Formats: sequence, C-alpha cells, structure tokens
Amino acid sequence: MIRLGTRNLKRQAYVAAASFLAGSGRVEGSLRLGCRARHLATQAGNGDSPLPSREKTAQFMVNPTSIFPNAVKIVEVGPRDGLQNEKRIIDTSVKVELCNKLSRSGLSAIEATAFVSPKWVPQMSDHKDVLQQIKKFPGVDYPVLCPNLKGFEAARDAGATEVAIFAAASETFSQTNINCTVEESLERFAPILESAKESNISVRGYVSCVLGCPYEGEIDAVAVADVSKALYDLGCYEISLGDTIGIGDPGSTIRMLNEVTRVVPVEKLAGHFHDTYGQALANIVVSLQHGITVFDSAVAGLGGCPYAKGATGNVSTEDLVYMLYGLNIETGVDFEALLEAGRFISNELGKPNPNSKVAVAVENKRKAKMTVQ
Ligand code: HMG
Ligand code: MG
Repeated sequence: MIRLGTRNLKRQAYVAAASFLAGSGRVEGSLRLGCRARHLATQAGNGDSPLPSREKTAQFMVNPTSIFPNAVKIVEVGPRDGLQNEKRIIDTSVKVELCNKLSRSGLSAIEATAFVSPKWVPQMSDHKDVLQQIKKFPGVDYPVLCPNLKGFEAARDAGATEVAIFAAASETFSQTNINCTVEESLERFAPILESAKESNISVRGYVSCVLGCPYEGEIDAVAVADVSKALYDLGCYEISLGDTIGIGDPGSTIRMLNEVTRVVPVEKLAGHFHDTYGQALANIVVSLQHGITVFDSAVAGLGGCPYAKGATGNVSTEDLVYMLYGLNIETGVDFEALLEAGRFISNELGKPNPNSKVAVAVENKRKAKMTVQ
C-alpha cells in the first residue's frame, strides 16, 4: 500500500523537518527525525508487499540537496492511449470497469476516452457512453481527447470537466493524425480554449513527436518548443510532451527539455513516454532531474497511436509507480489495486501477461512462492 495515509503524512512531516534542520546546520536533530521517517517508511515494505523495503531509499528524503521531488502526479492514459490502438473491439462495459478499477487504485487523473471521429478511430466511438457510465470518484479528473470544436462540444455535452487537445511538432504527423497542418491545428484549438473557459473546463495540451517522428525522423527541439509555447499561450494549463514512437533516450530528452523550458515554465510541463526502445523510465528520471513532476503512463503498458506505426505502449503505470517508490516519491497509488487493474485488462484483451516487467516479476514471484508452499 502506498496510498497517502496518516503514516505517510506523518513521515513526510518528519522528512520536511529533518531537511529543514539539516539545511540550517542542525545535523543531530535532522538525523533523529530522519530515523523516525525511515522507520515509518520501512513499514511499507514489510510482510507480503511486492514493494521493496524503504530502509535504504528513505535516505533520499533526509538529503536536503535531493534532486527529486517529494511527489509526482501520474496521468493514467491506458483507457484512451492504450485502448485506441487495440485491433479487437472492446466492450464499453470493459472500458468502464477498467476506469473504475483505476479510480479505486488512487490515481488522480484518468484519461477516459477520445471524442475523435469514429471513422478515424473506431475504438473510441463509444466515447459518450464511456464518459457517462464511469463512476466519478471525488478528487479524480477524467480528461478526454478532443481534436476539434465538434469533439469538444460533444465532450462538454457528455459532462467532461477536462479535455486534452493534441498538436504535433512534425508537419507530416499532424497531417496524418488530424488531417491538417500544425498551424491549422492551432487555429482549430483557439475556439476550444474560448468555449472551455466559458464552461469552466480545463484544457491540457499534447505535443506529439517531441523526440522523433515516424515519417520525418529527427525533430528539431526548437519546433517542439514553438508548438509547446503556442499551446501554453492559448491557455492550456499543462503541456504534455509526447515521445509518440518511444524513440528518445535520456540524451535527446535532456536536449529537448533544455529547449522547451526556455519558453514554457517547467512546472507547466508533463512527460508522455512510449516505451518502444525501452528508454521510457530513463527518460523519466532525467525529466525528474529537470524539474518535471507530472508523467503519463498506461496500466499494463497498453497502447500506441494508430497513426504512428510500430509505436508500442506507454511506459507501464506499474513500472513507473515501482520506480518512483524506490526513489521515495509519493504517487498516492495503491500498488495492489493497480496490479489488479492491469491483470483485469490484460485478461480481457486475451494477453497472457501485462506489458509491464514489474507486474510480471511480481506475479512470477508469487507463483514461485505458492509452488514452494
Ligand atoms: P476530417 O476527416 O478532416 O474531418 O478528420 P472533417 O472535419 O472533414 O469531418 C469529416 C467527418 O468526420 C464529418 O462527418 C464530421 O462530422 C466528422 P460526415 O459528414 O462525413 O458524416 N467529425 C467528427 N465526428 C466525431 N467527432 C469529431 C469529429 N470531427 C469531425 N470530433 C479529425 C479530422 C480531426 C476529425 C480526424 O482526423 C480525427 O478524428 N483524428 C483523430 C486521430 C486520433 O485520435 N489519433 C490518436 C490520438 S493522438 C495520440 O495518440 C498521441 C498522444 O497520445 C501523444 C503522443 O503519444 O504523442 C496524444
Ligand atoms: Mg501517446
């Protein structure tokens, strides 16, 4: 269990006090409080928890020069980015159950569906039913994708309180994905932002192909910065930087972030890493070091983009939560409930395992334990 509970809050208070004392030279007091924080943290790793003991990792927290944040927000995109790419038609009831299970796991943002053209992405054609049938948990946001005003109005009428618009740093990808140039897409988004303001709907923005394009290859980081700034200036509260084809690596991620953070404040940015080349977690670590504290991920590593051939799923939420836990970064997620959501959707999709190394490792360890007993 790593949901933020009283114990975690208490621990964070100890940690904050320890850091303050260490920062002001009162090392003895800092160490004493640090020990209490570690004691509370270690309890999370006891018993049958699949998560490791925090005895060692808690030391990050008493280091006042730590480069990592105390908490990260995860935007779960599995029900949208994941399921949009599945070949077989998935029942609305399965999508709804997936969202409900994810809500129960303590995630605070779940991208539920996409109000895109059913001719372009048939998998998302039940968008209205999905959005209306999911249980809305207090404190959880359920953003939906909108490519144009038509999609926005349908989402608003179906009760959306947050939408996401999506542009690209590559002209060819923009044409292929939403049938218009980058500039035209920004013109289409402007009235969405205006209407959203009137209806009190938050708007998140995506930039695709930030580390490479399936058609154009390398993408200039300056182009990524320009589109990010345009979305920010339009009024998006956050810009999610999408490595659509998962081709980036920590080096290219740093170079891209250096350019984007020149024009958009880092606290307004999020990372959206597909894991095609297995670099997503490494890219997230360097993004954390850069000051980014919001990351998109998909339960069971679902996903891809139907207009980016060869791209595999997002970094799996299970792997991301496990890594952040190791860094002593709070996510508010109940790991067991998350694993259950991943098992559920993998099973429904007829996949023998979730596309998550951590989920598979935990499952194998449990099976091995049962065989021994
Ligand atoms: P278009 O064909 O140019 O649209 O498609 P149009 O305006 O000419 O309209 C054509 C028909 O579509 C009309 O119907 C419209 O009413 C209808 P008809 O008169 O022929 O019966 N239509 C719509 N229907 C429902 N909802 C709508 C809508 N808009 C028009 N919103 C369009 C342009 C943008 C609609 C289309 O290209 C589209 O829907 N594209 C979406 C593609 C998509 O969903 N891609 C995946 C999501 S992006 C992604 O995965 C990347 C991300 O994860 C980040 C990353 O990884 O980088 C976000
Ligand atoms: Mg994506």
